[in-house]
Amino acid sequence: MSLDLKVDGQSEDRAEGYAQGILGTPMDRPDGEAKVTGAATYAADEVPEGCLVGMLVRAPGHGRIEVLNLDEVRNSDGVRAVIRDPRMIRNAAQGTANQAPVQGVDKADYIGQPVALVVAESFETARHAAHSLKLRTDGSPGIVNPEDAEPEGEPDTTTGDLDGAMSSAAHSVDVIYTTASSVSAAMEPHATLAWWDGDRLTVRSALQMLKYNRNELADSLEIDPENVRLLAPFVGGGFGSKLGISADAVAAAIAAKELGRPVQVVQHRRQVFETVTRRSETRQRIRLAADAEGRLSGIGHESLVSNLPGEGFAEPVAQATHFAYGGAHRVIGERLARLNRPAAGSVRAPGEAVGVTAFECAMDELASDVGIDPVELRLRNIPDKDPESGIPFSSHMLERSLREGAERFGWAARDVAPRARREGEWWIGTGMAAAFRVNLMMEAEARIALSPEGAVVETDMTDIGTGTYAILTQIAGEALGLPADRVEVRLGDTTFPPGSGSGGSFGAATTGNAVWLAAQEIRQAIAQRMNCDEADLTLKDGTAICGNESRPIAELLDGGSLNGHGHVTAGDAFSDVRQSTFGAHFAEVAVNDVTGEVRVRRMQGTFACGRILNEKTARSQCHGGMTWGIGMALTEGLTHDRRDGHIVNRDFAEYHMAVNADVPPLDVHLLEERDPWSGPLQAKGLGELGICGAGAAVLNAVHHACGVRVRDMPATPDRVL
Ligand code: MOS
Repeated sequence: MSLDLKVDGQSEDRAEGYAQGILGTPMDRPDGEAKVTGAATYAADEVPEGCLVGMLVRAPGHGRIEVLNLDEVRNSDGVRAVIRDPRMIRNAAQGTANQAPVQGVDKADYIGQPVALVVAESFETARHAAHSLKLRTDGSPGIVNPEDAEPEGEPDTTTGDLDGAMSSAAHSVDVIYTTASSVSAAMEPHATLAWWDGDRLTVRSALQMLKYNRNELADSLEIDPENVRLLAPFVGGGFGSKLGISADAVAAAIAAKELGRPVQVVQHRRQVFETVTRRSETRQRIRLAADAEGRLSGIGHESLVSNLPGEGFAEPVAQATHFAYGGAHRVIGERLARLNRPAAGSVRAPGEAVGVTAFECAMDELASDVGIDPVELRLRNIPDKDPESGIPFSSHMLERSLREGAERFGWAARDVAPRARREGEWWIGTGMAAAFRVNLMMEAEARIALSPEGAVVETDMTDIGTGTYAILTQIAGEALGLPADRVEVRLGDTTFPPGSGSGGSFGAATTGNAVWLAAQEIRQAIAQRMNCDEADLTLKDGTAICGNESRPIAELLDGGSLNGHGHVTAGDAFSDVRQSTFGAHFAEVAVNDVTGEVRVRRMQGTFACGRILNEKTARSQCHGGMTWGIGMALTEGLTHDRRDGHIVNRDFAEYHMAVNADVPPLDVHLLEERDPWSGPLQAKGLGELGICGAGAAVLNAVHHACGVRVRDMPATPDRVL
């Protein structure tokens, strides 16, 4: 049996009456000890007897690839194969499209594209042989810089007369912001172990979205998805880079089939930088037209982003601009430059991470121009319904985020004018920004088996470091009245029911609702055995209570077990309501007057995302997003060689993420709310909200400190001076 729910309207808050008291608590991760002691099996951690090692080979240039010494390398000691199979090249760009790749091994569209796999008896031999392979390319780089391309596409929203609104506005801003190309290289590199049993393929890999990845791999290999089993019980970070399968997975599977032995392929860090999808650089023209009080009459947000020829993804920069603020005259949308740079794809909060950040900087410029407080400017422009479609918001928490965040940060004490505070050679300033991120719901299934020992939850959902093991334990434990140590969650195996996968911030709420439905089916069965209504049933610490009757759940099982299966799908609720998460960022920075160095001194983030499922893992997501925002604002960016587009800084020494020394204590304030449109758990996506706009608070603080508007991110010292 199965309990199916299509979320296309409002749901009751079904977790409200539960008694176990673990949902929402800052419970430690049940998988934490396994992770920190090295017992957790990540993609490269299993090396079976007789396993061969494959090393990918990167294209050194563009165009047709010729291998000059193929036989020599193939026949060298310890080498088992040099594979150049047209099926093998895969990058993560398609994400959830379930498709085979668009690149091949014969022709390189970008420098760093995998063009061969060398397979050997040992890692050292494979690496040496891969380095010995002599490759010649004959092509020209093509177009590698955005300004040289003829962009595709048109703005998707054009209403009213923005030019007219701009020229008649009491205050207007017309600015261009740029953000750098950036990488989503997670701590765990992309890695795969593949082996075959006849026609059946098993792959252990670093992946976010198993049910889609299985189809992608099957499509690449031209085999039946039924014959593919994927394993990803632990994943060391994703950020979008593992949404789709990568070249290591396809190549390892091909090699294992050809050689009849298990094959492991681990991408080294520089390969990860080139083969996983980057976040496109953006050039954003933002126009704001406002009346004397700062009320917006017009909004323009037009961006240029890039991707490889043939790739389907275009960074949706203005995704939140469509609903963030009112204003009748609007020109909003993206255009795409086709560039021979490494492929672009979804990176944490695709769209809003860079779009909200630049837009919120422009809003700060408008506040300066109008001469009002930037918090007040946002408050004056909160729409009471979706500004483009006219439909209501499912919930709207921006005002509360702004007010509570400002209060916690001590915003009221701020000097109005910039360059007002100085300590020695440092200018001190504060800045703020709003945060928005669309909320998504997907399809997911999960099952629970309840036995006298406790509950076992199974779904192919992943935990990419976000805390899935913890929150699914809490949801099942809460609904079934079991303490956390009597709930076991099993993830990351396609033999389990298909979960939503981890992406787009939808994992916790979507798969969480599927687990809740599975538990609900079991609750109904228990209620039946207790002869009571499920709604009147209390389950706590292994005991079922109804009216005056109280019985151990184990006794009700009567020596057997109870099984529940939940299946949640997203209906068309989004045509009735606009659903988003909201927040506010506040930052204090010091800017060195001599060197242009910026130090973030403190930062506050207030976020509203429906029910908080685990207070600790939720907070950690926000810390991560805010940290990334600091990097986006100040240090982080891929540098592409202007001659051939290749990534110059392709390791963690040269690519400057914000690290401990760059990040002050971060104050995170979670606003509990219930959004009835987000399913019975009333939780919404949280993972990506923290990065949206965070960098704008930092850059706006830089302006407040020293009076300099940096419109090109990252604001490295040369741009601040
Ligand atoms: Mo996210 S960029 O959808 O992993």
